Amino acid sequence: MKTYRHEIFTRDIEKNIREGIWQPGYKLPSVRALKEKYGASVSTIQRGYEDLLMRGLVKNLPRSGYFVARQQVTEKPAKAVRQPVVRDAVFQHGLSATTAQPGNRLQLSAFHVAAPGDLMIPQKLLLRTLQQVVRSEGAGLLRYYPASGSPALKEQIIQRAAGYGTLFQAAELLITDGALQALYIALSAACMPGDVVAVESPSVFSVLQVISVLQLRVVEIPVGRDGYDVDVLHKVCTRTRIKAIIVTPNFHNPTGTCLSVDQQQALLAIAQRHDIALIENDIYGDLHFSGSRPPTIKALDDSGLVMTFSSYAKTLAPGIRLGWLSAGRYLSRAEQVRFALGSSVSPVFQETVTRLLQTHSYDRHLRSFRTQLAKNAWLTLNLVSCAFPEGTSLTMPAGGYHCWIQLPSRTDMDAFYKACEQIGVRFTPGSVFSFSDTFRYCFRLVFADTYTAARKRAIKKAGAALQ
Ligand SMILES: Cc1ncc(COP(=O)(O)O)c(C=O)c1O
Repeated sequence: MKTYRHEIFTRDIEKNIREGIWQPGYKLPSVRALKEKYGASVSTIQRGYEDLLMRGLVKNLPRSGYFVARQQVTEKPAKAVRQPVVRDAVFQHGLSATTAQPGNRLQLSAFHVAAPGDLMIPQKLLLRTLQQVVRSEGAGLLRYYPASGSPALKEQIIQRAAGYGTLFQAAELLITDGALQALYIALSAACMPGDVVAVESPSVFSVLQVISVLQLRVVEIPVGRDGYDVDVLHKVCTRTRIKAIIVTPNFHNPTGTCLSVDQQQALLAIAQRHDIALIENDIYGDLHFSGSRPPTIKALDDSGLVMTFSSYAKTLAPGIRLGWLSAGRYLSRAEQVRFALGSSVSPVFQETVTRLLQTHSYDRHLRSFRTQLAKNAWLTLNLVSCAFPEGTSLTMPAGGYHCWIQLPSRTDMDAFYKACEQIGVRFTPGSVFSFSDTFRYCFRLVFADTYTAARKRAIKKAGAALQ
């Protein structure tokens, strides 16, 4: 495993905190003191403190320095489902609880929309590229494009994926109208109505909606602090015929967890043993805060059972309706379904994304976007750890833009959401992330928008409403 320079001192700090030698509230050594003690540069010490902040071990008070964080806001998992059962995918929750904008008169601090906020969308870059595309392609944009997508775009996707060790074949790649459409196609290609699919628990409600619309049945597999519970999946697959497994190995929405390569391998082995389609949602894979881009399960697969999909909704803008699916051995059925949903994805978006990839503008944008997201993650951690009551726990991701928060189990959640509505702050209730009622005391906070003073205040007030 890679070690970082800052670990020469973060290991010592972490040990003292974990062993209870330094209690919550204890003031930690200054950057200058650590610099002298460990002979490291200021930036190394700062990087180390940022890492401890990210992991919820310390908090930073402006002009006062670093302190040991209150223990209750640590990287504890939400309580997981223990014995998953097969159930009908009946979606009980209205979309109004998820991403729909409410008719609230107040200016809302929205932390419930899983998409980049207006100021974090690279607006200038996108509008300029759209204009260039219209000028250079002209009326060509008004025709149908090949049903499986533009060959130049597929070539760019393949080249970029090769950079993180994933090999796609042009023939198995389908360009889609976003990630959800890719999921719809993948599930339709592998399953028939009534089949059972294994889905993460918690899982983003839009994925649950697709499952529900396709009239599939589900088994919910717990996703805890260490990510996907491969052991539970293993047990489920030995007693139930599962037709597809849907998994988000990188920065899962909403918990933000990642699967290690060992877990990915174990998951793939189960899929191969039982001949199950493994549908890999890699929509957040490009949004790692540090280090290199995490790998995909597809990179390990030589059976064709893995179908990987993604889109540019989370990394560029949700209005860029463009995604893709690598359909593996399900290609021919997937092509049929793709065609039935419309014979061509918008040429304007295809050409725009092709250009952004060809010129490396996409990667340049990602570099600054990821830095901004990492800063927002630390800030969120600090705000929540200071404002929310004892007994609150949260999982803090190393990428993506979700923070999954669990409140103490006697919290009156209806009163909490009502207070949030009055304050003018919106989170996504945990109950919409499952077909069961497992996540009643959880909610998702999205930090993909700039933190104005009003937005910081809104989080503080929401926490105060619970005190
Ligand atoms: C995990 C996950 N998959 C898919 C989607 C939908 O992506 P798209 O807008 O590209 O259809 C979302 C958006 O919320 C998501 O979080």
